[in-house]
Amino acid sequence: MTTGGQLFDLTGRVALVTGAGAGLGRAFCVALATQGALVVATDRDLARAEETGWLVRQTGGTALTLATDVTDEKQVTETVEHILSEHRRIDVLINNAGISTGAAKTHELAVADWDRLMDISLKGVFLMTRAALAPMIERGSGSIINIASIIGMIGYYPGFTAGAVNYAAAKAGVIGLTKQVAAEYASEGIRCNAISPGFHGGTKLAEAFRSKSTPEQAERYEAAIAQRTPLGRRGRPNELDGLVLWLASDASSYVTGQNFVQDGGWTAT
Ligand SMILES: NC(=O)c1ccc[n+]([C@@H]2O[C@H](COP(=O)([O-])OP(=O)(O)OC[C@H]3O[C@@H](n4cnc5c(N)ncnc54)[C@H](O)[C@@H]3O)[C@@H](O)[C@H]2O)c1
Repeated sequence: MTTGGQLFDLTGRVALVTGAGAGLGRAFCVALATQGALVVATDRDLARAEETGWLVRQTGGTALTLATDVTDEKQVTETVEHILSEHRRIDVLINNAGISTGAAKTHELAVADWDRLMDISLKGVFLMTRAALAPMIERGSGSIINIASIIGMIGYYPGFTAGAVNYAAAKAGVIGLTKQVAAEYASEGIRCNAISPGFHGGTKLAEAFRSKSTPEQAERYEAAIAQRTPLGRRGRPNELDGLVLWLASDASSYVTGQNFVQDGGWTAT
């Protein structure tokens, strides 16, 4: 049993993060490395993953960077095989890769956008989890953390299009997947939890959403978020560090199948 300063210790552990080339995934990599984990930063965009690897090393951590598109079963399998051949274990998996296809009301949403988002944000979580489970089962331990969203828990329509049903459905799916995996693998020492962030800034997702809107729409959207959030602002990516380190480490050894909300109080009101 670890205590005090060692509570969140990840020394000797291997942590795989998907979509690690930007935003939240990048912050998770840096945080995991500060606790001693060897971080495997993967992204479909290798250059971005390498930037994250560089940042991790700047803070004294160790990182391996790989190009992995989570929708590609072959790449997912190869990534896991590569990690096992070099490091023989995967202790932590953070299924973080996810996209938004922009704001659209349901009757206007293109079927292609539904499919693309489901592929990345839901099927990608399944593929990566499926691949990482085998080495976790073999070791009898593992912590899987799935990044869902408050938009998988409640609807949001502030009187104008500010999200989309594909995003909400995929994230609700991620929460369901989390509970099922937790139930199936608890007896094998593997925990699986979800984090549902509220609106966070400093990410490409937030930028992409802005770039698809007119300045007037973007301003209206930001004002609606601030007004609706009890803490009155967006979260910052590194404000999730504590939650991620807790779930990744033995500090949360009796916690599985849960969905943890970090949203500045959004879902409380
Ligand atoms: N930013 C927020 O406010 C917020 C809120 C709730 C949930 N989330 C979720 O958090 C996760 C990270 O979001 P973010 O805001 O940091 O996004 P981001 O756009 O800043 O970063 C996402 C990363 O995922 C990568 N990616 C996209 N498709 C991929 C694929 N097929 N395979 C591998 N990598 C892929 C991108 O290249 C990018 O580097 C997402 O699942 C998102 O839905 C974000």
